[in-house]
Amino acid sequence: MLKLIVANLKSNKTQEEMQSWTTDLLTHLQKSTFPNDSLSLIIAPTFPALPVLDYRLQQDKHAFIQLATQDISPFPAGSYTGAVSTRNLEGLHVTHTIVGHSERRRYFHETHIDVANKVREALAAKITPILCLREEDILDQAAVLESDERKQCIVAFEPQDHIGTGIPDTLEDILKIKEVMTASFGSVPYLYGGSIDAMTDKELLQHPDIDGFLVGSASLTIDSLFSMIDRILLTS
Ligand code: PGA
Repeated sequence: MLKLIVANLKSNKTQEEMQSWTTDLLTHLQKSTFPNDSLSLIIAPTFPALPVLDYRLQQDKHAFIQLATQDISPFPAGSYTGAVSTRNLEGLHVTHTIVGHSERRRYFHETHIDVANKVREALAAKITPILCLREEDILDQAAVLESDERKQCIVAFEPQDHIGTGIPDTLEDILKIKEVMTASFGSVPYLYGGSIDAMTDKELLQHPDIDGFLVGSASLTIDSLFSMIDRILLTS
């Protein structure tokens, strides 16, 4: 079963640290094999780290690795100081973008309409939105998206109280929210994010109804990222 892992590096890492993270990644991949079609690893670095990471991934191709941004402008290219539009990404191999992360909603006051505009911009550029939703966002966010837009998203249940706390939500809650998501978005890929790491219960990590995970802290080193990935993929 394919598991989708989104490594969200958030606002961490200098250029130099990102270079050594990438070196560690490529070194690790040289000595690892994964069962066919078992893993899709989507890396979301900071915007300044994107071109170098993209370049190095192009030199050393691994079909199961893709590139994402952590955010995208809700506007097209133009006079929007500070924003990064989909047009600015042309020439890079960005396939996904995270939108509506709770940290964006909370610290940058993004509204459901802003997030819907980001989804639209991404889809117009053929970039798949990874739409992050707290439980309280689901219905209101779905209401401001068209049905064909909802169907093209990957959704991620991201309970704010479990992000960066070291304590993931319970499997029961995660599966319950999946039903609410499915009722609004259809059977799109369903991810969970919030304190997932190599210590997380195997039952949660390997549950067939969870398509993957959005991972913050545990993606900051290649050791912690792949200890978690190994635990997800190794069923024995
Ligand atoms: P965390 O972050 O893994 O550090 O809890 C997850 C997230 O923000 O999605």
